[in-house]
Amino acid sequence: MSILSKKTAIVTGASSGIGEAIAIELGKRQVQVVCAARRIDRLDRLATKITGAGGHALAIQCDVTDRDDFGKLVHITRETFGAVDILINNAGVMPLSMMDKGHIDEWEQMVRININGVLNGVHAVLPHMLKAGGGHIVNVSSIAGKKVIPGGAVYCGTKHFVHALSEGLRMELSDKNIRVTTIAPGFVTTELTNTITDQDVLERFKAYDDITPLAPVDIASSTIHALEAPPHVDINEVVIRPTMQML
Ligand SMILES: NC(=O)c1ccc[n+]([C@@H]2O[C@H](COP(=O)([O-])OP(=O)(O)OC[C@H]3O[C@@H](n4cnc5c(N)ncnc54)[C@H](OP(=O)(O)O)[C@@H]3O)[C@@H](O)[C@H]2O)c1
Repeated sequence: MSILSKKTAIVTGASSGIGEAIAIELGKRQVQVVCAARRIDRLDRLATKITGAGGHALAIQCDVTDRDDFGKLVHITRETFGAVDILINNAGVMPLSMMDKGHIDEWEQMVRININGVLNGVHAVLPHMLKAGGGHIVNVSSIAGKKVIPGGAVYCGTKHFVHALSEGLRMELSDKNIRVTTIAPGFVTTELTNTITDQDVLERFKAYDDITPLAPVDIASSTIHALEAPPHVDINEVVIRPTMQML
């Protein structure tokens, strides 16, 4: 039996890709999983899949950019399962573009979701974790949080923010029994690139055609590894690339 059994976790961005895979792996370990995102139809299907396999799951619609929405998400989670032990701050978007294209709406969208969304999550769970005397916050960043690429000035900026936030949080919470982990994946096959509208960036992405990418479950496995570490072990950062990914 996993040491995570009977714990409660909120996973944002659970309607597809990495978040969905993490929710499924948590469900297999008898974690009470709250699946959050905007596309409720997908969340409902996911929750049904997890409960159908013997797990415990709840689907809750939540736009992470809305502070009140996030507050409600945490409130319902605590009402239903009695606690919030784990937050997986995973929701994110990546409409990459060259700066001279001036896609200012997309820049702002990335800031709202990838930065404000993560902050809203921390703000919503922290008082409860402090009161409960423990918890684990996992922030999903990216290799883009460690390196900057052309077309990724804003996206990389948002992910560098996630690393800085995680490190600050970790230091402030190290004596509060609250662990903080940053997951920094390389190229994973998901819907993330669907929002890229800049043809120059899409052209650059062809360089990835020749490599075998990661699957969402690869990131979920690493996340579970960090969550299942003994209480005195805080895995602060996981960097995981496809073997063939050089940069
Ligand atoms: N795929 C990669 O290569 C890769 C690499 C490094 C890091 N990452 C990071 O991994 C995370 C997950 O991405 P993914 O690759 O799994 O892509 P994905 O399949 O597109 O998933 C993104 C998730 O974020 C959710 N989301 C977007 N905006 C939201 C909002 N305002 N409120 C709530 N949820 C929102 C989406 O759900 P709804 O649209 O239903 O709301 C979706 O579930 C992101 O933070 C991404 O930056 C991905």
